[in-house]
Amino acid sequence: MGGSQSLLSAPVSWGQSWNRRHYHPSIATGHTALSPKLVSSGDSEAKAKRQRQHARARQSRQEELQVEEQQDGEGVVVENTPQEVEEEVDVEDSDMDPAQEDVVCAMDDVAVAMLKGKRVIITGASSGIGEQMAYHLAKMGSHVLITARTEERLKKVVEKCIKLGSSSAYYIPGSMDNMTFAKQVVHEAQRLFGGLDMLILNHIGYTYFDFFNGDVDHVRELLEINFLSYATMTVEALPMLKASGGNIVVVSSFAGKVGLPLTVPYSTTKFALDGFFSSLRMEFKHQNVNVSITLCVISYIDTDSAVNTVSHVIQQPAAPKEECAFEIIKGGALRQREVYYQYHATKIPMLLRDWAPELLEYLVLKNYDVNALKKE
Ligand SMILES: NC(=O)c1ccc[n+]([C@@H]2O[C@H](COP(=O)([O-])OP(=O)(O)OC[C@H]3O[C@@H](n4cnc5c(N)ncnc54)[C@H](OP(=O)(O)O)[C@@H]3O)[C@@H](O)[C@H]2O)c1
Repeated sequence: MGGSQSLLSAPVSWGQSWNRRHYHPSIATGHTALSPKLVSSGDSEAKAKRQRQHARARQSRQEELQVEEQQDGEGVVVENTPQEVEEEVDVEDSDMDPAQEDVVCAMDDVAVAMLKGKRVIITGASSGIGEQMAYHLAKMGSHVLITARTEERLKKVVEKCIKLGSSSAYYIPGSMDNMTFAKQVVHEAQRLFGGLDMLILNHIGYTYFDFFNGDVDHVRELLEINFLSYATMTVEALPMLKASGGNIVVVSSFAGKVGLPLTVPYSTTKFALDGFFSSLRMEFKHQNVNVSITLCVISYIDTDSAVNTVSHVIQQPAAPKEECAFEIIKGGALRQREVYYQYHATKIPMLLRDWAPELLEYLVLKNYDVNALKKE
């Protein structure tokens, strides 16, 4: 039987044609590395832009390698040759028209610029997507306060954030099944930063990946970690976020928009997030509250916990956590109401949800090898 802290969603193998950019997962977190390639051969301006992108991506990757080498205690050695890094950061030609690519690129740059000096809390940042978000924000020059339960991991992430350029970086260990701790994290941001610009709610508690076992107490416990702590932190942080005109970013899942098999407790908690935060967003509009709420609908991502838990059952490649983390942050900074990542694996199936639910169910089930589960 499978079990994990992290569950996913990524039920259907949709064509890749909606994927607007190719991204190499091993590329570090510099935003330039995530920007799409500017194509159009013969267009000298686009070519120059592309060369600048490559140069910045190369520099970004080298910085990351240096930090990793320093942390390993093996001295500052950048092992990749410029040629290797060039190959690593190279991106394929995209189908997008160059003008459209320029817009996407500009939006990336705007989001990055907006986050410099911002004060951000990230929960669940000792691993996976949360950890990657911390590194992106560090490179953007934000102040970060990260939290999770494992102090050793948090310490390492904070050290790396400082080396990557974070304006400041702190951690506070604790468990989100304790609402007093959830409030304490927010108070700590007030004490350390004197305010807050962005609250990123990302952590999830342990659950199983299997048929529902009838344990309703587990559902209640998971609701506390995955949902009630999110609501608690939001309420506690609102005065600071109102003062700064800030952002709340809620990391949910495709499983929080469409009920998926083998994830009954998890899916329940993610649906609760949609209900709470989508209602609250509407109320903010009525009340002229200048705080944005971004709900992130995420597909199957290549974090260790997700891959270890579901890869034997779900027949779909996992998307890169680095790019996923960047898209979440970007959506928050640009005050988008929802982020769909990967777009083709989340937004397109959503079109079927209300108009052809049976077809969607058929496609989802087709993508699950439940026999592999039984063999466990
Ligand atoms: N990866 C995917 O395929 C996928 C797909 C869709 C949505 N998502 C969403 O993306 C987010 C991140 O997922 P991920 O794959 O990056 O997960 P992950 O790598 O397992 O990270 C989960 C984080 O939550 C922390 N955590 C676990 N239990 C906790 C508790 N009781 N109190 C406080 N923190 C706790 C973990 O650290 P400690 O163990 O140190 O506490 C860790 O930092 C989640 O909201 C998930 O639902 C992921």
